[in-house]
Amino acid sequence: MEDKIDELRELREEALQGGGEERIEAQHDKGKMTARERIDYFLDDGTFNEFDQLRTHRSHNFGMEEKQVKGDGVVTGYGEVNGRKTFVFAHDFTVFGGSLGEVFAEKVCKVMDKAMEVGAPVIGLNDSAGARIQEGVSSLAGYAEIFRRNTEASGVIPQISAIMGPCAGGAVYSPAITDFIFMVEDTSHMFITGPDVIETVTGEQVTFEELGGAKTHESTSGVSHFSEPSEKEALDDIRRLLSYVPQNNVEDPPRVEPWDDPERRDEELTNVVPDEPKKPYDMTRVIDGVVDEDSFFEVQEGYAKNMVVGFARLDGRSVGVVANQPRVNAGTLDIEASEKAARFVRFCDSFNIPITTFVDVPGFMPGTDQEHGGIIRHGAKLLYAYSEATVPLMTVITRKAYGGAYDVMASKHIGADVNYAWPTAEIAVMGPKGAVNILYDDELAEAEDPEARREELIDEYRDQFANPYTVADLGYVDDVLEPQDTRPRLIDDLEMLSSKRDEQPDKKHGNIPL
Ligand code: COA
Repeated sequence: MEDKIDELRELREEALQGGGEERIEAQHDKGKMTARERIDYFLDDGTFNEFDQLRTHRSHNFGMEEKQVKGDGVVTGYGEVNGRKTFVFAHDFTVFGGSLGEVFAEKVCKVMDKAMEVGAPVIGLNDSAGARIQEGVSSLAGYAEIFRRNTEASGVIPQISAIMGPCAGGAVYSPAITDFIFMVEDTSHMFITGPDVIETVTGEQVTFEELGGAKTHESTSGVSHFSEPSEKEALDDIRRLLSYVPQNNVEDPPRVEPWDDPERRDEELTNVVPDEPKKPYDMTRVIDGVVDEDSFFEVQEGYAKNMVVGFARLDGRSVGVVANQPRVNAGTLDIEASEKAARFVRFCDSFNIPITTFVDVPGFMPGTDQEHGGIIRHGAKLLYAYSEATVPLMTVITRKAYGGAYDVMASKHIGADVNYAWPTAEIAVMGPKGAVNILYDDELAEAEDPEARREELIDEYRDQFANPYTVADLGYVDDVLEPQDTRPRLIDDLEMLSSKRDEQPDKKHGNIPL
């Protein structure tokens, strides 16, 4: 028996070495951890249970039968994050460059299948040279098996991808289907075709970093959600994100022991919205003043900055936050902001996370760029996402809510449960100046002093429409709140809405404008 155990131990030892010392050193020299070091850092201490540690590939092409490495370039299994079951797979770049072949794909599929069966998140730590060339189309088949599982799992279990090295060609599409992508600055790159191919085909010259680095995808393409200075910070933030979300779509998000007074009234909130309607202010100040202290965790901070989205807590309960940001482009809705918020709303709705929306929106962004870029169909995504959402929706209008954008931003009419306005709110079909120009076009042309008359009419319009009271009278907002009362009120509402039931008609799936 002892011999047998020694044999097993030797095999394990061999597997733990991955591609060997030299390649591990090369990995460290690039500022990267190995697959095992990443898993070890990510999961709660001593909780990792590995699957398929001893598997090897079945390929006989290009002398591959001579090159067998136990584990076949990917480390898979499950463990715990903050005491909750979590599945992981980590590409091992030291083995065939972490390239994906048939057995590698089978290993990834196995953890995805198990995660679906037991209802727990899957975290993929990507660091791979892509399809394993020697295994030909079997590698492509393996990718497709993973893509299909990513799609099936979407909205059932949370799926998160960390990109910690190359992720190119078809390989990008597994992370792309997952819910959140974290990229590590300088060491990770995502692209469909690399700089060499681009130069050959289009003549364009571009570096890896400019083309598909963490900053590019965080701020320009919106492909990733987090750009992280180091692998450890990426893994820390994934752990933090998981703390806001449930294990699967039939569970509620975890409620933590509250640390902030539910009755806390932040008197400073009264001074955040400036008296001048056009003066910008920072909506994150409003969010921080309302949610539990230090609980706001912003998502996609660098992209479409006119829209803020993220997770937070209200009396220990998870909420998604969606908010216009008046500091950037006056908080207008444009193509990118609509898409960013729509995807976030759909994530929250899939996973039973109530959504709090803070509104200060002068309307949709005007311009041919926007119209020709399809603002109609892209803006419709956000409208669609809110309208189909069945989670509790709570809305606070801090200042402007104009035109179609008023409807879109979680208005009562598209299904929000509780809607409030602050005394500074202006809710109308359009801003006073635009409205007066249209309504009094002829009168102003003939007026003795058109500017003075315009100002008079603007004041009249503002008195009549640009306030929260007309809308409160119609019941479209449930109350006008003093800003500091927003927190206790939303906390009570969240408790009241915790037993909300909202059924949508049976259908295969909707046809969200894409
Ligand atoms: N299939 C099989 N093995 C691969 C591979 C692939 N697609 N890509 C790289 N490898 C192997 C290399 O042969 C090398 O093996 P070795 O350690 O036994 O020498 C190892 O992985 C590391 O690759 P290397 O090129 O030395 O690493 P690098 O850090 O200098 O470059 C890449 C990394 C990913 C930029 C580079 O390997 C590359 O461009 N690979 C091809 C990517 C690709 O086109 N994939 C297919 C399309 S999806």
